[in-house]
Amino acid sequence: MSEFAELSLGDKKYQFPVITGSEDEKAIDIAKLRDETGHITIDSGYKNTGATKSAITFLDGELGILRYRGYSIEELAEKASFLEVAYLLIYGELPTAQQYAEFENEIKMHTIVNEDMRKIFEGFPVNAHPMGVLSAMVCAMSAFYTGEKSGSDELNIIRLMAKMPSMATWSYKKSQGHPVNYPNNSLDYCSNFLNMMFALPVAPYQVNPVVSAALNKLLILHADHEQNCSTSTVRLVGSSHASLYASISAGINALSGPLHGGANQEVIEMLEDIKADGGDTAKYIAMAKDKNSGFRLMGFGHRVYKNFDPRARIIKKAADDVLAALGINDPVLKIASELEAAALSDEYFVARKLYPNVDFYSGIIYRALGIPTDMFTVMFAIGRLPGWIAQWKEMKANKEPIGRPRQVYVGATERAYVSMAERA
Ligand code: SDX
Repeated sequence: MSEFAELSLGDKKYQFPVITGSEDEKAIDIAKLRDETGHITIDSGYKNTGATKSAITFLDGELGILRYRGYSIEELAEKASFLEVAYLLIYGELPTAQQYAEFENEIKMHTIVNEDMRKIFEGFPVNAHPMGVLSAMVCAMSAFYTGEKSGSDELNIIRLMAKMPSMATWSYKKSQGHPVNYPNNSLDYCSNFLNMMFALPVAPYQVNPVVSAALNKLLILHADHEQNCSTSTVRLVGSSHASLYASISAGINALSGPLHGGANQEVIEMLEDIKADGGDTAKYIAMAKDKNSGFRLMGFGHRVYKNFDPRARIIKKAADDVLAALGINDPVLKIASELEAAALSDEYFVARKLYPNVDFYSGIIYRALGIPTDMFTVMFAIGRLPGWIAQWKEMKANKEPIGRPRQVYVGATERAYVSMAERA
């Protein structure tokens, strides 16, 4: 039975269809709203506005549920490899052994980055932020792979999955004054990344299986998150039929913001500040509640999760396991736990349903894996890449129109030009 929403404007009544998703989510389809009523809606930050119908990721912010193509994040994080999850997100189903082998081999055949790309990279200063470098290098791929080299969307998907880890590690090697490493196709995806990050010409690098397994889990947990800021950016840029590279580069830039993916770097810097300030968590909780302080508890709160972010729960346990396995005692982990306990019992946070999000504990693990703070958001981007690709692919497959929101104009009404001489 079709459902409708009824809108009364003045003495007129209008009906708009209600659509229901596979998880019983409801939406009012306002495609004809302006034509029929002359009105638009307005919703700053799109807090109540759906941009699309998607079959990729389902999350329930009230119940703390997150599933990729119907599979729970808890199961995938425990049982799958990151490349399996990337295949699932991009192509819609978990791969058979043969499909996985072909996918992995395709990626390995494209891991080398064009040597001319190195010339662009060499132009960055040694202290360039890795997110700015990564977005520029990915965008440069739209200049390199053009014309007869442009290739199909499918080839460009493989190229990105294959080359982004290499380009991501270049920034770190440059910041250390070390030579960059080339990919080693005898290694799996995560081990290859770690090898490119930490191998030195003077001694072979042994991948610690604990570290590689932790990285695999972290990348899976970051792989997609439906219509967040950076994913919506990728879909919007892609809706103009800009290249996949240009769309993903835009997504990297959106992710870099401290309110979004940049929060994982901000969290560790915040925890270090609290440690340096004597570990007085009560002082920082008070600051977070004081609107005039300009301070926010980074890693806390979420647009959608009004309960625990399920990823934060998994990452917190992984942090305990990884630090124990590596024999690391990181004092900021204790500060983070104290901060979490204090916030979760404080009315300000409880009333606003502010819980730890994916970024609150992830930096503690990245640091334990030897990854420097300014690379944390790059790790988020590497994890999110298959999700961005899947969402871009779905937007194109749906033949969605170019995204072009409306506005309500509140500026000056019509007025005549006055010459400079006549202006006061
Ligand atoms: C990610 O969308 C996604 O899915 C994103 C992500 C993904 O996987 O792609 O999950 C990844 O971006 C996680 C979020 C990382 N960001 C941070 O940790 C930065 C700190 N958190 C916030 O700035 C904030 O909570 C947001 C940006 C995450 C959400 O912001 P909203 O939904 O716009 O909420 P809001 O800013 O309107 O806050 C509502 C209230 C406000 O107080 P009041 O005006 O009602 O009095 O809560 C307060 C805010 O001041 N508040 C906080 C707070 N977060 C919100 N107060 C103190 N500390 C915080 N962290």
